Amino acid sequence: MDVMDSVQGMFDMGASAVKEAVSKPAVERQPFMRGFARLCNDGWLQGWHERNGGNLTYRMTDDEVKTCKPYFTDEPGEWVDMDVQADNLRGAFFTVTGAGRFMRNVELDIAHNVGIVETNGAGDAYRVVWGLHDGGVPTSEFSSHFMNHSVRVAATDGACRVIYHAHPDNVIALTKILPPDARTVTRMLWKAMTECVMVFPKGVGVVPCMVPGSTEIARATSELMKTYDAVIWAQHGLFASGPDFDATFGLMHAIEKAAKIHGLALMMNGGSSEFANTISDDDLRAIARNLNLALNEEFLD
Ligand code: 13P
Ligand code: ZN
Repeated sequence: MDVMDSVQGMFDMGASAVKEAVSKPAVERQPFMRGFARLCNDGWLQGWHERNGGNLTYRMTDDEVKTCKPYFTDEPGEWVDMDVQADNLRGAFFTVTGAGRFMRNVELDIAHNVGIVETNGAGDAYRVVWGLHDGGVPTSEFSSHFMNHSVRVAATDGACRVIYHAHPDNVIALTKILPPDARTVTRMLWKAMTECVMVFPKGVGVVPCMVPGSTEIARATSELMKTYDAVIWAQHGLFASGPDFDATFGLMHAIEKAAKIHGLALMMNGGSSEFANTISDDDLRAIARNLNLALNEEFLD
């Protein structure tokens, strides 16, 4: 194909398609998008994302929106009403994984598996402004992500930007042997290894088995997120929040590892949780005191 043919080809594509073709690398090259894709791949490598399991959303900064805006589509999707609303997220932009799209494919084709959505001025509807090619829509758990962002933004004075949902094996297995009770589950996780009380000193919330993707589970989770930065969905998985991708992935990883250690210790002990040695409540207090951490005293004996 000579030069004139390829120029003619670009005209044939139409202005919007040319812009899209040229823009893909620009948006995909942004550091926040690299971090977003890296987390998706890291979660896949951990085995937390069977099929389309799990999803990720990131609340973009004003500068990131400004940099990406020239590459947004000229024809944004329709505004889609959400069954939830948040005053503190009016006009916010989110990078989101797509419903039914696989985390293992994100790094290979970001524009197909990931999108950028804009929230309307009322904070109750969104539209896709970039990516999610081939008719994609935001994750079916977007209501939960949106409500969790709202609650965590308020709880952290605007620091929280990342909400991550995964299906880690050991956390799910744990919810089969423990009641869906934050105190019981948090104590077990804290006592699995000394790191835990440092990573999640407030503890971990738990919602019972509920319908995935429903407004009810979104509201129940966000209620708990007022207190905790991570919430377990019994029989399903885990939601983690944080200021950046490292902290959020690290929180997910620490909780899953603690659940695994508890399971291993149970197996080594013939199924009994009467361990010869464990971390006492006073040990937990001493660790927290040493780091000046405000431990959730309600969960201590
Ligand atoms: P999505 O493919 O819609 O993100 O759903 C995956 C999931 O984990 C539902 O809870
Ligand atoms: Zn899920």
